Amino acid sequence: MAQDKVDIFDTTLRDGEQVPGCKLDATSKLAIAARLDELGVDIIEAGFPISSPGDFKAVEDISKLVKNARVCGLTRAVEKDINVAAEALQHAKRPRIHTGIGTSDSHIQYKFKATREEVLERAYKAVKHAKSFVEDVEFYAEDAGRTDNEFLARVCEKVIEAGATVLNIPDTTGYCLPDQYGTKIKYLIDNVKGIENATISCHCHNDLGLATANSIAGAINGARQIECTINGVGERAGNTALEEIVMVLRQHSHLNLDTNIDATLLNDTSRMVSESMGMPVQPNKAIVGANAFAHSSGIHQDGVIKKRETYEIINPADVGVDESAIILTARSGRAALAYRAKNIGFELDKKQLDKVYLEFLRVADIQKEVNDKDLPLIIKASNI
Ligand code: KIV
Ligand code: ZN
Repeated sequence: MAQDKVDIFDTTLRDGEQVPGCKLDATSKLAIAARLDELGVDIIEAGFPISSPGDFKAVEDISKLVKNARVCGLTRAVEKDINVAAEALQHAKRPRIHTGIGTSDSHIQYKFKATREEVLERAYKAVKHAKSFVEDVEFYAEDAGRTDNEFLARVCEKVIEAGATVLNIPDTTGYCLPDQYGTKIKYLIDNVKGIENATISCHCHNDLGLATANSIAGAINGARQIECTINGVGERAGNTALEEIVMVLRQHSHLNLDTNIDATLLNDTSRMVSESMGMPVQPNKAIVGANAFAHSSGIHQDGVIKKRETYEIINPADVGVDESAIILTARSGRAALAYRAKNIGFELDKKQLDKVYLEFLRVADIQKEVNDKDLPLIIKASNI
């Protein structure tokens, strides 16, 4: 069965970069944008042009540079923001303006001190205005995760009427459960007039660690764009991680959903973004963490050495990792020790291995990890 395409909207340079500690200089922004284009993302959100002259210039430069992806600039539902974004995007081959407004009662009451009707009107006007500059206009209903579904459907209908091509349904606070978020997307598909003329987009934050699960639930229920960042960087606990979305869809091909991403570039892109931002990736991060393909317990090591798939669902080469790592610690067994010794040129028979293993445990109980430099010394000290 043919796979349905899910567009990948990367917001590393906007939602990711706006976080304290993740600021990028102009050269790094351009290098990351070029890499995202090579990676195969469909849309690059390059920045929030009205926010600063630096961000304006970044969006302008990225617009000139990017060859394949759409380039997108964020705005509030404010005329001046939209004018500035249109100007910053003027050299883009395929420009997109991303405009929107908070739609939850809490945003309407406390942030805007407005009414639902006023918000509807502002949303409509913003999309109409953006449409006077570009064909491709994405509307975000901020805090859609906590917005009443009936009102959200009215907002969506109104902005489609104004010409929105993509409807972004952000779970801005990372509040939803996958089931709630999926149901919300389905509700919109079933209840919004004209929805067949627009793409629904998931934009999930990770406050409860559910950003990826929620985005996947959205896609299962009909969304065809997912907004994400490399390494999941983003406000507070972050955004949906691009690498997780790509590999969840690849691993579960029965969903018949796929992206255009060249997954073999994922590991290197993760490292590039982490180094440019000075934001380390947690070692146990899915797909791109240093331990994502490392095995340290004896039982797991024995299984992986016999057949990699016993404890790995992803072939490391598929995401650009050279090979699985067998880490030697005090929890390792003889199989791992023999394997690592063989890798550096020591073939040990059973008797030799038993002796070396005793010495290995003595050292491993003292050290956190035993490395290739320690091994010859351990073998020598074993008197085999
Ligand atoms: O999380 C959010 O709601 C956003 C919007 C500005 C799209 O980042
Ligand atoms: Zn966001």
